[in-house]
Amino acid sequence: MRKPMMAGNWKMNMTVAEALALTRQIVQLVGDTTAVEMLLCPPSVCLHPLKAISSAMPFSLGAQNCHWQDSGAFTGEISPPMLQGLADYVILGHSERRQLFGETDETVNKKTHAALTHQLAPIVCVGESLDQNESGQTAAIITAQVQAALAGLSAEQLQSLVIAYEPIWAIGTGRAATAETAGEICGLVRNILRESHGGSVADTTRVLYGGSTKPDNIGEIMEQPDIDGALIGGASLEAASYAQMVKITAEQYGG
Ligand code: 13P
Repeated sequence: MRKPMMAGNWKMNMTVAEALALTRQIVQLVGDTTAVEMLLCPPSVCLHPLKAISSAMPFSLGAQNCHWQDSGAFTGEISPPMLQGLADYVILGHSERRQLFGETDETVNKKTHAALTHQLAPIVCVGESLDQNESGQTAAIITAQVQAALAGLSAEQLQSLVIAYEPIWAIGTGRAATAETAGEICGLVRNILRESHGGSVADTTRVLYGGSTKPDNIGEIMEQPDIDGALIGGASLEAASYAQMVKITAEQYGG
């Protein structure tokens, strides 16, 4: 049974003080939930302060990126060993990193290897552009991105893997994919995993949808059998909307 995950990707938002306040508000609004994994992915400077208050609180922490080397002359970068103990997850290959910071399938693959070596669960992001979508290339792009990210990794290594399907045209646009389309592509991701790494990885990997999710559409998105959660941008920056999304999902999953 895959535990549903509501992951908030805060992107480059929130000072430490704001992050602490938002987190406390979220926890107060949600109360205790065991049915849904709440994952907060703040800017990296907020990880330590949030970790410090997390022991009595029902959320996991994730970083938004990492380098693939353990250390070295890489100004401005953060390595997997530095995140160990502070984060449980790390988002890799977000389309903003691919588009704005030169990330490629190859670097996403190196980072996935490095994260797993250091016991960080990778959340590998894949997604097609509007052009690719409109020219019927979605399945080919998603297949290529998933296969490239996981190249050289065994089924045993992928036990903590999470994949997020985030169509680029749906991110921050208010134009989410329909629940049916999102469900279909998340199903495709699961089939790719089945073919490349076998049934156990396909059945245990959580596949998230991301792109303009909000309280209004999360219910129908979470009804799709192949969708195990959401990677939430804008709506995760408001305690009330994020908490509502967690609650809607918890109710659907009976907790
Ligand atoms: P929005 O929910 O703001 O569309 O962002 C999605 C996203 O990029 C999460 O990683």
